[in-house]
Order: sequence, then C-alpha cells, then structure tokens
Amino acid sequence: MSLKEQFGKDILLTGWGHSKFGKLIDDTLESLIVQVAGEAIHSSGLDPRDIDEIYLGQFNSGMQPLGFTSSLALQLSEDLANVPATRTENACASGSAAFQQGVKAVLAGTARNVLVIGAEKMTDAGADVVGAALLGASYEMAGKSSTTGFTGLFAEVARHYEKRYGAGIAGPGFTAGLGDVLGSIAAKNHSNGMDNPYAQMHRDFGEEFCRTISEKNPMVAEPLRRTDCSPVSDGAAAVVISTSATGGATAPVRLAGFGHANDFFPAEKRDPTEFAATRASWERALGMAGVSIDGLDFAEVHDCFTIAELIMYEAMGLTPRGDGSRAIQEGWVYKDGRLPINVSGGLKAKGHPVGATGVSQHVIAAMQLSGTAGAMQLPNARRGAVQNMGGVGIANYVSVLETV
Ligand code: COA
Repeated sequence: MSLKEQFGKDILLTGWGHSKFGKLIDDTLESLIVQVAGEAIHSSGLDPRDIDEIYLGQFNSGMQPLGFTSSLALQLSEDLANVPATRTENACASGSAAFQQGVKAVLAGTARNVLVIGAEKMTDAGADVVGAALLGASYEMAGKSSTTGFTGLFAEVARHYEKRYGAGIAGPGFTAGLGDVLGSIAAKNHSNGMDNPYAQMHRDFGEEFCRTISEKNPMVAEPLRRTDCSPVSDGAAAVVISTSATGGATAPVRLAGFGHANDFFPAEKRDPTEFAATRASWERALGMAGVSIDGLDFAEVHDCFTIAELIMYEAMGLTPRGDGSRAIQEGWVYKDGRLPINVSGGLKAKGHPVGATGVSQHVIAAMQLSGTAGAMQLPNARRGAVQNMGGVGIANYVSVLETV
C-alpha cells in the first residue's frame, strides 16, 4: 500500500532552501534560519501567511547559549505571527525528526503547509565545548571528557567491525585493509563534494591521501584519520511540506515512504557492527514506498564517519552483513554505479551542522528529483532515499522520495 493509499493524501515537498555549509563567521543561528525559511517559502510559491506550522531541528546540547530557538523563524515575516513552532531534538537526526513531525502534522490534517527547518551553528564554540556537546549523544560518555570525542565512539565500531570481518570483503582477489576501504569512501565523497556549491570542503584529496596517515591527515582515533571524519560545521536547510502543488517554479517531489526506529541507548544492548535500528528504519521506509533497494536511483546517507557509510551499505540491504566493502570496491556507489551514494559529498565533504543535516539531505534529494541539482545532477533520477542517524545508530530516519 502506497503512502497515499495508506493515509488518503499525498505528501509533497513543494519548496526548499539551503545555506552554504562551513565556518560561517558572518552568520548567526538566527540569520541562517531566516535565510533558508525565506528561500523555502519563496520557492514553494506560497506566502508566509500560508504556513500553518513550523518544526525546527536543532541539537545544540550547549554549542549555542540560546536554548529556546523554535520562534526564530518567525523573524522572517510579520505574517508568521502566532504560527505554532516547535523545536525537535534527536541528536544528529534532529533535522529528520523535524521533517517527520511535519509530515505527521500534514497527515493528521492539523496543517496544510508545514515549514521544516534544520539548523546548527557549531563553530562559535571551542573544540572542547563542541566535543562535550556531541558526547551528550552518548549514554556512556555524556558529561565525561574525552581526547577523541565522538570520533572515538565510531573508531570503536570500526575496531569491532575489523575484528569480526577484517576489511569487510568476502572472497578472494581483494587485498585492501579496512583503512584502505574507509579511505576509498572518503575519497569518493570528497570528489563528489567538488560539484556541490553548498559544500564546506571543496578538496578532491584523492585515494592515496585519504588512505595514508600523514601530517595533513593524522590519526584522530585509531583507525579513523582526519579524512574519515565529517567536519565541524555551520549551516541550515529548509523544506515546505504540502498536500498538493503550491504553484512554485520548481516541480514538487513526492514522499513515497518514511521510517523511523530508535535503538536501545546502552552500548551493551547493541551489536556494534550492525546498526539494527537503522536497518529497521530502512525496512519501514522502503516497505511503505513498496520498493526494494534496487528501485532507488540514488541515496544520501549519514556518513558522519566513513565506517558509518560502510556499515550503511549493509544496513540498507545493498550487501549482506560483513560484505559492505564490495559496494565501494566494485564501484556500485560511485556516481556512475548502480546506486550512487552521497553524490552531494555527504556529511564528509558537504559538512555536518548536525541539526541541519537531515533537512539538507531531503533538499539535496529534492533537487536531484526535480532536475535542479546543477553540477550534482544525476541522469534519470526518479526515486531516491535519504537516511539520517542520531548517536551511534540510535535515532534512525529514512525517507523515500520520488518524482511526481
Ligand atoms: N576532513 C578533512 N579535512 C579536515 C577535516 C575533516 N573532517 N576537518 C578539518 N580539516 C582540515 C581543515 O580544512 C584544515 O586544513 P588546512 O590546514 O589545509 O587549512 C586542517 O584539517 C586543520 O583543521 P582543524 O579544524 O584544525 O582540524 P582539527 O584537527 O581541529 O579537527 C576533526 C578535525 C576531524 C577532529 C574535527 O573535524 C572533528 O572533530 N570532526 C568530527 C565532528 C563530529 O564528531 N561530528 C558529529 C558526528 S556524529
């Protein structure tokens, strides 16, 4: 049963906006939110007075002193006076949490047009504050200090993975180690990021640089080097969700299915080599859309660290468990492969302003599906998926989007 058959109405992305990602010293959290809110409403063809509800995804966790940000988007226009606005927080998946709450408001019929925003301003704070804030998304590490920060948690995942699967490559003929495989993922996403005008990093480092520990690419937490990590970023993105076309200049994009699954928080209740709840969120979204992974033309996935993208190949069902490296080694996930992944550069090159990421992924997918992705544009992009994750596989969201 399609989403429309299940709920009796279409969910359309009718407009969107996206700021540059990076260290944005001339912007504030407020200016970023107002910028993308204005772009999204304008591109939907609507007027601010047509917006019935606002959801803002933002993690914060101490990176910004202002802890109450839901009303900031109202600064855009007097016509947004009294519009209900709520901030959602689900760690690095706060943006997708906002998106799915917006979808549910439209499905419930309590809103016709919802403005969804994701935003984060991370670089105002020092590295120690950012590190502690991000560790607030870990059950065991919250409130503790760490020299390796959140990277250390994903490094632990990588070490467990390597112990169980080696480089994650089944079969003869592959000689690469896990570090090489992760380096290839980093190089792919950095190369893709060159075509994304919103990306923080326009640096095509190449495979050798990403696979090699050097002064410019030091180890952050064994086995993750600097190029295996997403950067610390500022940025925002927004979409308007509606039930029917709203007269915008760009063709709307349909939500075909969505899924959300949370895992147990304590590490001992999870297998670190399997993002089990991530897999469940994929199954829910693909199930609602009535498609298999082979029915997708592209995916934007949560590569906060390269090991996360590797395990994602398995969680999304592209390869069996332990076999994920095949997807990169055999070229499936490159731009010209059978399922291009992170054509935007992913979190790795585009940047990862944590609360903005989920909404950014939806915007990038909408650009692909409406043929407005510019240099990132894939030929024949008719259906794609976005996947956004909070914590180490804890809060998981997937959306399947398609052309109308
Ligand atoms: N990937 C590639 N290059 C990066 C980078 C990254 N993630 N982060 C910074 N750089 C580059 C900078 O552009 C700069 O290059 P230059 O010297 O040629 O100008 C150089 O590395 C040093 O930048 P700096 O900001 O001092 O790096 P850093 O060592 O302080 O920080 C990380 C690097 C990886 C530790 C930091 O980006 C980080 O903590 N990332 C993870 C963030 C995170 O956990 N997010 C949540 C995920 S769930």
